Amino acid sequence: MKDFVQTVNSTMKKEKNKIKPFTFKIDIVNKTLSNPDSHIVRKLSSMKGQYLDETSYDEMIKKEDTVLYEVYEKLVPEMEGELIQGLSIVHPGKVGKEYFMTKGHFHSVLETAELYFCLKGHGYMMMETPEGDWSAEELLPYTASYVPGRWAHRSINVGNEDLLMLFVYPAHAGHNYATIETKGFRKLIIEDNGNPKIIDNPKWK
Ligand SMILES: [Fe+2]
Repeated sequence: MKDFVQTVNSTMKKEKNKIKPFTFKIDIVNKTLSNPDSHIVRKLSSMKGQYLDETSYDEMIKKEDTVLYEVYEKLVPEMEGELIQGLSIVHPGKVGKEYFMTKGHFHSVLETAELYFCLKGHGYMMMETPEGDWSAEELLPYTASYVPGRWAHRSINVGNEDLLMLFVYPAHAGHNYATIETKGFRKLIIEDNGNPKIIDNPKWK
């Protein structure tokens, strides 16, 4: 089965003048947030060609199209000045030696930033710019990772439990997944003797 986007609330395109202040609660035990507007579920099948070890990928997907990560969002009008926020849950596991990770993306409006606040688990935020700079920031509970404008970003779960993060980004930012799907990230994180290790991506184009 393909990954899917479930729209819980049909008022995705809320009008600017209709938006009111709101508060939401993050439930880290049940791994959700209150009254989400959308729930995105990404499975192994949505990451074809993204993992280094294609043999392991093929063997895994023959058995089960495993859920790699989920995203719950609180949606607001997709316009400058507003902020979209939500909860990202990357499940633990590996394809070969490479940890479960998100697809990764640039923002369509390249100069827009994002903040991730780690609530639970152990991970890395892998980032890179079109100019070739890269950074891998470690994520532990109650650490925040700032993704500046121009930086593509992907979260990677290197621990044994779910990696839970609150994220906040400009509502007009949009997502460009295609560049990463085509080129990949310059760097990967694999397990080496039980520890995460950053390596060059031999498939990077
Ligand atoms: Fe983003």
